[in-house]
Amino acid sequence: MTEPIRFFLPGPSYVTEEIRQAMTGPMIGHRSAAFKEIYGRLAAALPQVLRTRGDGMFATGSSTLLMEAAISSCVESQVLHLVNGDFSKRWLQISQSLGKAADSIEVPLGEAVAPELVREALRRKRYEAVALVHNETSTGVISPLAEVAAVVRAESDALILVDTVSSLGGAPVETDAWGLDVVLAGTQKALALPPGLVVFTFSERAAERAGKVSRRGYYTDLLRYRAKHRDGGTITTPALSLVYALDVQLERILAEGMEARWQRHRELAGRTAEWAAARGFLYAPREGVRSPTVSCLRPPEGVAAPEVVKKLAQRGFTVGGGYGEWKPTTFRIGHMGEVRPGDLDGLLATIDEVAAECIAS
Ligand SMILES: Cc1ncc(COP(=O)(O)O)c(C=O)c1O
Repeated sequence: MTEPIRFFLPGPSYVTEEIRQAMTGPMIGHRSAAFKEIYGRLAAALPQVLRTRGDGMFATGSSTLLMEAAISSCVESQVLHLVNGDFSKRWLQISQSLGKAADSIEVPLGEAVAPELVREALRRKRYEAVALVHNETSTGVISPLAEVAAVVRAESDALILVDTVSSLGGAPVETDAWGLDVVLAGTQKALALPPGLVVFTFSERAAERAGKVSRRGYYTDLLRYRAKHRDGGTITTPALSLVYALDVQLERILAEGMEARWQRHRELAGRTAEWAAARGFLYAPREGVRSPTVSCLRPPEGVAAPEVVKKLAQRGFTVGGGYGEWKPTTFRIGHMGEVRPGDLDGLLATIDEVAAECIAS
């Protein structure tokens, strides 16, 4: 039996003892036969998590590395960003910092960019790529990715670049069925691994386009990753200890099953919603776009969000504070990765205690 989880940060998320132990393996050469064997297992498992028949790869670095690599590799100039929170804004800033002609559709916090807005933008101008964040961890909003991707496919030949950092492993992400070109996720969220690796796919279509992009960089060149991957290895020395962890955790994830994992996350979000409705905690995002992996909540009158975070910490529970503009008014529960219903119940009961204490004081 594993220990009860009291760590509900929306990333990094709780990592099991088994995974922490897996990281203590000995160093081996990353061009050795032993590493190739591990790499072969990862190359077989990752596409199942990413739901693609294409390449499932990983890079040593955090999610932001792959956000930058996707733009460097796939976009010569024209890119459209869908912006509905801090991480999608970061992606826009990455494109701007690389000198791309980046446009954006921006919607208020708590909203998702509607597919119709994307359609209108694509009818006005031709883009090489559309970049979006599937699950905005900063606001707890999940975007209608399948619908957006269908619009992009129907209206244009733009590549679809998707940050699934806090959805992969916790919500359906169907790379091939939805026609996604780059799908990326740091390992520290719903995959429940330590930070430091980012898993990703890179479609054939994207690879063809990347061949025509002039300055892809070196560490950010996804064609380089793909060539090495097909040769059974990584472009540079990988974070080996994290690779051991990834190997064990992918086996655990696939043993649970992707659909079962998505269902468990739906149940966790549903339990949180029921509890919140009964206690007067309001969701910051509007109904219909609430994330299955992170709930962003406004406490009832008389209870300050930063106080909830602080008082929970005093009781040994960690949740996320509000992010950016919503810092003073919201807090975030990361019910992702390894969290089970019983763990969540423990947290929710403790929030009840904390809220009562705030109101009494
Ligand atoms: C949706 C999303 N995208 C990108 C990032 C950036 O990730 P990293 O810190 O792994 O670069 C985060 C981090 O929380 C995130 O939640």
